[in-house]
Amino acid sequence: MARILITSALPYINGIKHLGNLVGSQLPADLYARYMRQRGHEVMFICATDEHGTPAELAAAKTGEEVADYCARMHDEQAELARGFRLSFDHYGRSSSGRNHALTQHFAGKLAENGYIQEVSEKQVYSNADGRFLPDRYIEGTCPNCGYDKARGDQCENCTKQLDPTDLIEPRSAISGSTDLEVRETKHLYLRQSALKGEIDQWIDAQDGWPVLTTSIAKKWLHDGDGLQDRGITRDLKWGVPVKRGDQDWPGMEGKVFYVWFDAPIEYIGATAEWADANGKTDADWERWWRTDKGADDVRYVQFMGKDNVPFHTLSFPATIMGSREDWKLVDYIKSFNYLNYDGGQFSTSQGRGVFMDQALAILPADYWRWWLLSHAPESSDSEFTWENFQASVNKDLADVLGNFASRVTKFCRSKFGEVVPEGGDIATDANLDKLAGFDAKLAEYVANMEAMEVRKAATALRALWAMGNEWLQEAAPWTAFKENPDQAAAIVRVALNLIRAYGVLSMPFIPDASGAMLGAMKTDNAEWPTDLNSALSALPAGHAFEVPENLFRKITDDEREEWQAQFAGVRQ
Ligand code: MF3
Ligand code: ZN
Repeated sequence: MARILITSALPYINGIKHLGNLVGSQLPADLYARYMRQRGHEVMFICATDEHGTPAELAAAKTGEEVADYCARMHDEQAELARGFRLSFDHYGRSSSGRNHALTQHFAGKLAENGYIQEVSEKQVYSNADGRFLPDRYIEGTCPNCGYDKARGDQCENCTKQLDPTDLIEPRSAISGSTDLEVRETKHLYLRQSALKGEIDQWIDAQDGWPVLTTSIAKKWLHDGDGLQDRGITRDLKWGVPVKRGDQDWPGMEGKVFYVWFDAPIEYIGATAEWADANGKTDADWERWWRTDKGADDVRYVQFMGKDNVPFHTLSFPATIMGSREDWKLVDYIKSFNYLNYDGGQFSTSQGRGVFMDQALAILPADYWRWWLLSHAPESSDSEFTWENFQASVNKDLADVLGNFASRVTKFCRSKFGEVVPEGGDIATDANLDKLAGFDAKLAEYVANMEAMEVRKAATALRALWAMGNEWLQEAAPWTAFKENPDQAAAIVRVALNLIRAYGVLSMPFIPDASGAMLGAMKTDNAEWPTDLNSALSALPAGHAFEVPENLFRKITDDEREEWQAQFAGVRQ
């Protein structure tokens, strides 16, 4: 039994996530966590909302809420949707928690102590009316390039030109509209990543078998151009973790907060501490997952994320951990994903394009989405959601193959033998088992791919196990055998009912609700992982009662597909 720490990239707080976000981190992380728990390992599966930064402030300003209220509300909404998708986090935390404040300030203090923080004086725009420095995107004005009058200080949305706030014609504060702006000196902290470059480089070289997508992105940032750059880790915002060294004030840094990308990954640790707090545990209970001097040296730590998150997790967060010179756990494996596209274009939060988590659950159960998303996970390249493909996959894999198997077998048994596993015949000679000869090899393939986090390949192997049962049943044809030889039919049905239980167990990581329903219908809490066909077939003995499951999956009709296609063609308001 191993101990496995699993984190999913933290979803940003400003709005409900789309299916592309879901399949890029939280969903495959859940697949892995569920699988590892089922195999008897001790798992800590952590996620949280990423709540700081300018986008949170702007989103709150839009709804007219206080940013703290906005974040609390959105956290609850996202947590509810995570439950809806059956994401089995041990804890779903908040990066705005007291735990994360303290840990972030602690790391900053250690980094400073060890010489990895540099104080830099910069010129920045100050708004007298607002009484604060303005981040670049809080300054608006006329674009010098195209004349657009709502260009932001970092970029013109109209012509996409990258700007400096001082380039803007007639600049004004985006908060108050005031033009009473001046340029002032202000101090910021930089994390001296360049000083840790060699160490990070060596650490990445020492990793075994990381996905090419992960290492190639890391290497590019380490070696292209000028190499790894020092990075500003403070901002002039109100909402965030106040800049302190440990619990001490930081002279000259009053009123500033840490940059959201500095505190967010620290929340992986913070959320584990929140888990301890929420469950009446002690510090030692979370530290044994994170402190290699307190028991975490035998933990395997796996992170899941989309490719845009890779630089922060291969370079910046490790720089924070290494620079602390304390015994914190570094990640052991980073599973990264490409993008999922939507019907010929990109999913987009800012444009409201695609299907969002709440909308998905409003039209179909979680399992349908989980199955499609995971079996089409964008691993080796980007992949694309289309309604045709979704309909075909659900109708074929789930309804025709798995659902049909379970319903046919149970209904046949009920009508001929009653709702108990029937007695009679000999499985070894009567049940046509040679048609299932490939079962053990497929099962081994499934297991190997789950262990390796090869999500699509695992789905393919699982689907093949379902299909094999279906084909076997078609050939074994207990309905024909029953007329001549009821004992033979009984032996076949016994095998089939045991296969339903086995499918329930094996499919649990992908489709937990339907799997639960299968085990429920088989009236068993024997969720033991079948190690081969033989062990799969001995779980439910003759005489064991069961019931016919409610329709496990329904088909998506052409009308529905067209309706949804039209409904989601535009942009979300
Ligand atoms: N919120 C970020 C995003 O959506 C991910 C943060 S991951 C963390 O891209 F580790 F930094 F928290
Ligand atoms: Zn412009």
